[in-house]
Amino acid sequence: MEKILEIIDLEKYYGSGTVLTKAVDGVSLDVYSGDFIGIMGASGSGKTSLLNCVSTIDSPTGGKVLLKGEDIGRIENKKLAEFRRKNLGFIFQEFNLLDTLTVEENIGLSMVINRNEKEKVHDRVNSVAERLGISDVLKKFPYEISGGQRQRCACGRAIIHNPSLILADEPTGALDSHSSRKLMETLEDLNRNDSSTILVVTHDAKTASYCKRVLFLKDGEIFNEVFRGDKNQMEFQLEIMDIVALLGGD
Ligand SMILES: Nc1ncnc2c1ncn2[C@@H]1O[C@H](COP(=O)(O)OP(=O)(O)O)[C@@H](O)[C@H]1O
Ligand SMILES: [Mg+2]
Repeated sequence: MEKILEIIDLEKYYGSGTVLTKAVDGVSLDVYSGDFIGIMGASGSGKTSLLNCVSTIDSPTGGKVLLKGEDIGRIENKKLAEFRRKNLGFIFQEFNLLDTLTVEENIGLSMVINRNEKEKVHDRVNSVAERLGISDVLKKFPYEISGGQRQRCACGRAIIHNPSLILADEPTGALDSHSSRKLMETLEDLNRNDSSTILVVTHDAKTASYCKRVLFLKDGEIFNEVFRGDKNQMEFQLEIMDIVALLGGD
């Protein structure tokens, strides 16, 4: 298995002196091609800080992040956007779609920026939309569709260019339980059938239970991990909830 992501002793501190916050405090993690990893933790445990260092949105205080062997901390600033566009796919809690673009245009945006031919973009957007069950809303604007459909649109945007790694920060945080389940089933399907490599951070046990491996973050440190193995989603959710209770989280 190809090692996609290597997080080495990562630290992200905010402030200094008496107001120093160790948001990420020495996290190491290897992610291989085809992994579907959840990072669970209460609010404030450092999930977003960790993800932002992986996604090059923020730079770490210490440690290193390698993506397919490349140290992302050494990529020139002006090349970062292109690096992200080529290698990463993002799904955020608040969808982060562009309101002035249709669903179709949102999904295809990175391919257009990367100067792919119109025809090719069109075909790819259509196949992705079909896969996600949003073919019928392609001509609509984000404000004309439901939250669940918006997140599936964001998911389409994230996978359109076959990224090496899909990163999701609380992807179900703004969704009702039905839409949450549909989204996580979609990610599960992408992982199983397209071998997509996915890293999801969430404070929600049900969301995490769709992953194959779940790590628990507390005060910026990984303190436990569990594997789904042969367990079904419900069984795994219960196991995760037990650990959350132990953690004293939310
Ligand atoms: N820009 C920032 N400046 C100062 N402190 C921050 C900043 N971002 C996050 N923090 C602090 O770092 C800790 C981890 O936050 P965060 O990574 O957002 O956690 P989570 O995503 O798990 O809720 C929290 O104590 C938070 O208050
Ligand atoms: Mg967060």
